Amino acid sequence: MEELKELYQQIILDHNKSPKNYGKMVNCTHASEGYNPLCGDRIKIYAKVENGVIEDIKFEGEGCAIAKASGSIMTALLKGKTVAEAQQLFEEFQHLITSDVRSNVDTEKLGKLAVFAGVREFPTRVKCAGLAWHTVKAAIEKKDEVVTTE
Ligand code: FES
Repeated sequence: MEELKELYQQIILDHNKSPKNYGKMVNCTHASEGYNPLCGDRIKIYAKVENGVIEDIKFEGEGCAIAKASGSIMTALLKGKTVAEAQQLFEEFQHLITSDVRSNVDTEKLGKLAVFAGVREFPTRVKCAGLAWHTVKAAIEKKDEVVTTE
């Protein structure tokens, strides 16, 4: 268990250091801004959606290692997915980070997302991990306001 925790921490640190899909997108069809009032960090999500499929997705902004790693892993996962699949993954991720800390994590089903199971022990970190996901949900649902993690 301790080894798994270390591996998860390492994955988060690696994604923070070299985030995937980081930067602006000029020809996006969907965009949204997310805000974490607990720390003041903000991120933006840009997506290019065609025929209900997320063809491309990027993120940028300020955030701690968990928020940045979450944006990196999330964008890598959502690229090529349908909007419906993205919404389903949002639900699964939300369930993961807000579930009881003693409940088992289905690592097979969740894949890389399982690295965020550790945030369940730290309520403020749940907001960090969820920031990119709340923002992408607003973007693909075309909500035109800044979304917060509250
Ligand atoms: Fe701001 Fe994590 S401390 S998003």
